[in-house]
Amino acid sequence: MKIFIDTANIQQIKDAVDTGIIDGVTTNPTLVSREGRPLVELIKEICSLVDGPISVEAVSQNWHEIVKEARHLAKIDKNVVVKVPLVKEGLKAVKVLSKEKVQTNVTLCFSAPQALFAAKAGAAYVSPFVGRLDDIGHVGMDLIRDIRRIYDNYGIRTQIIVASIRNPLHVIEAAMAGADCATIPYDVLMNLMKHPLTDIGVERFLNDWKKVPKARSPGR
Ligand code: G3P
Repeated sequence: MKIFIDTANIQQIKDAVDTGIIDGVTTNPTLVSREGRPLVELIKEICSLVDGPISVEAVSQNWHEIVKEARHLAKIDKNVVVKVPLVKEGLKAVKVLSKEKVQTNVTLCFSAPQALFAAKAGAAYVSPFVGRLDDIGHVGMDLIRDIRRIYDNYGIRTQIIVASIRNPLHVIEAAMAGADCATIPYDVLMNLMKHPLTDIGVERFLNDWKKVPKARSPGR
């Protein structure tokens, strides 16, 4: 499963990239707004840090404006994937962009039919938001399982990015469900690496290592 980090924060991206597990980055207007920097400058810096898909969201409302904006965003870097909301105008734009080989990540997906239509329109990625479904009492991960089954039934190559991840269980269930990618907030990502037994084990090994006699240095 590909691991993307869901942030536009440079420090978080740098720290996560240093662990060697990051395959890409997803951003959205909310995440970008937190950084207080112009979009193109920020995305260029992110692209310099990660050699993988970098999702940047188009905010235009009608399909021809989305297409125009997407062409502009795609020119920022070869790794830019344009995020387009899963609405009718978005699907119309994806259909045009897919013919121009502009990679799209169709976002704000909350149902299996939406995901099927995103694939039909030519989306490279689809982003079902599991956390926001959980937030209203649905089982977000059921949507991932449904989309995986539908896509596999028809050999659909659109990649499923599990998004709106709130906790480590979402990541585990995403992998169990066969999702292609999970886009993980920094704090969740850091928690996924930790385990109290690992910390206890490291401390015990270090304490026991102190008991190992050290070789005498020559001449002493
Ligand atoms: O970036 C897309 C998605 O991961 C946003 O998640 O936490 O705003 O529901 P969230």
